[in-house]
Amino acid sequence: MALFIKNANQLITMEGFSNAPATHGQMKEISVIENGSLLAENGKIVAVGNAGELERSHSDIIQDAKVIDASGKIVAPGLVDPHTHLVHAGTRENEYAMRLKGKTYMEIMNAGGGIHATTRATQAASFDQLYQESERRMDTFLRHGVTTIEAKSGYGLTLEHELKQLEVAKQLNESHPLDIVSTFMGAHAIPMENKNDPELFVDLVIKEMLPVVAEKKLAVFNDVFCERDVFTPEQSRRILEAGKAYGLIPKIHADEIEPYGGAELAAEVGAISADHLLKASVEGMKKMADAGVIGVLLPGTAFFLMAAFADARKMIDCGVPVALSTDANPGSSPTLSLPFIMNLGCLMMGMTPEEVLSATTINAAHAIGKENDIGSLEHGKKADITIFDVPNYLVLSYQYGMNHVNTVIKDGVPVVENGQLVI
Ligand code: NIG
Ligand code: FE
Repeated sequence: MALFIKNANQLITMEGFSNAPATHGQMKEISVIENGSLLAENGKIVAVGNAGELERSHSDIIQDAKVIDASGKIVAPGLVDPHTHLVHAGTRENEYAMRLKGKTYMEIMNAGGGIHATTRATQAASFDQLYQESERRMDTFLRHGVTTIEAKSGYGLTLEHELKQLEVAKQLNESHPLDIVSTFMGAHAIPMENKNDPELFVDLVIKEMLPVVAEKKLAVFNDVFCERDVFTPEQSRRILEAGKAYGLIPKIHADEIEPYGGAELAAEVGAISADHLLKASVEGMKKMADAGVIGVLLPGTAFFLMAAFADARKMIDCGVPVALSTDANPGSSPTLSLPFIMNLGCLMMGMTPEEVLSATTINAAHAIGKENDIGSLEHGKKADITIFDVPNYLVLSYQYGMNHVNTVIKDGVPVVENGQLVI
């Protein structure tokens, strides 16, 4: 019932940003307790501090607690991945090979591949098949220190198959220790059969899909791929406003391939986040900062599409609260490693090691509306904790392409030990 993690080289709490996400210089305030310890009971954090202090103040709880010795290691909030396309069938390595020979992502999609290819595979897949594929991905997220993810639909593109994806996510959230927050993304692509009449599909999303998704309470957020040849800013606005009427909070895939007004639109519709932003205008960034829209940056996508990275430095300087995510999906970012994304944040987007920690914990929690439960190690929050086998947090963003996760605690219970799943 109780868990006492003691004597970590560094215990990173991220405290103080549960009311509003960290912006500007606040993103460097990660609150490190040297030689730190943490006490949890019944799945919640009771206290953090030095071992001696906690042993004096909470000896009654500690005497029966399971003890984890974290000496030589660092303890951090369980990582939060606020943008994934978890539930889908199959892989697209054939398109990767085509891109390596010079074809572009949008050329492949416009020719019926890309999102359309994964849509065909996902439509053809049974519930159980999707469940099993996604469950394996969740195991991998956990082994990489992630304790909560957001997961989008958007490879169904018909009511039946969008619901199938969302139902899979719902059941997985109930049965697997990793927590999932769901997003409806019926507007992920215009199906090939609607190519000549995209408005018909926009109407279908608004009139047939949104009401059912909302009524069944299968999603918290509503996302749109706002991009040339996909959904225009006006179509995106209609879809997001319609979702708002059903209580679904807007998110946007914005300015990924070209500048398209996505950042501006996110501010105008009051989106909780605008994601990608590789080509966002400075004007758009300022509007996001004024409206408090979180910028969810996905450097794995720029890396994998061999594109220019988002300007994280400028965004942070403009006052946009920045979060980082894998964008895990089979086309533009086939990875499940958020720690690798942290490496990219530092190496390719000019973020500091402290900023990438804020961006994958408390700011990521804000990007999915979970800031009161997760994202920091503070009294009363969930005991979702990752222990990395590194002597200090700098090493985490310095050594790349490795998995340093030693232990993952979910709701106060170890789910990864010595790097292996124990569930
Ligand atoms: O976030 N940009 C649109 N959607 C995904 C890619 C989906 C896919 O290629 O399957 C993204 O990059
Ligand atoms: Fe995405």
